[in-house]
Amino acid sequence: MSLHDRIEFVFISFIHDKMYSLFMDANKMLLAAGLKKGYSVLEVGCGPGFFTLPAAEIVGDKGIIYANDVNPFAIKKVDKKILKSGLNNVQTMLEDVTETTLKEQSINLVFFFGVIHSLMNILEKTLKEMHRILNAEGSIVIQKGKQSTTVLVERVEGSGLFKLVEEKKRMLIFEKI
Ligand SMILES: C[S@@+](CC[C@H](N)C(=O)[O-])C[C@H]1O[C@@H](n2cnc3c(N)ncnc32)[C@H](O)[C@@H]1O
Repeated sequence: MSLHDRIEFVFISFIHDKMYSLFMDANKMLLAAGLKKGYSVLEVGCGPGFFTLPAAEIVGDKGIIYANDVNPFAIKKVDKKILKSGLNNVQTMLEDVTETTLKEQSINLVFFFGVIHSLMNILEKTLKEMHRILNAEGSIVIQKGKQSTTVLVERVEGSGLFKLVEEKKRMLIFEKI
């Protein structure tokens, strides 16, 4: 990671930590995405962790949040937040989403918030990996970005691995086929 990456991350952290809560309610979004008590959840591209701790509160002691990111600064920041919070049901993972170390069929739900734009060039590989780790009833939830929803849905469904079941609050919810 270069100095540029570091500076960029400090900027992103500032926006997320100080401004996101002015117009986004993490708890509401996560509940709308379908997180439930006891779930094992993968958060793809956790960044500075705006959603990570609220997600951990929702899944509770019997659930777990795997907070994934390729950026070591993000993982370091989330690790600090976890330590400060005293929560013990979050595990950070410094990994590319296309090659996680999660076990097959071990996850109930994967959410992609604020990250899909970065994954469009590796979408098929990402979906294949998500399909591997999700259990039979598993789902992926994608927060829509600036890209065309029609194209995104076509590409996800075109993989033959997921089908769209719901669209709400700027989120697309797909179930594993
Ligand atoms: C804009 S941030 C969003 C952070 C958080 N999800 C939110 O909405 O507040 C996107 C994050 O995705 C991460 N990311 C990008 N490509 C990734 C990949 N292939 N695998 C895992 N993380 C990735 C970036 O490092 C960055 O921290």
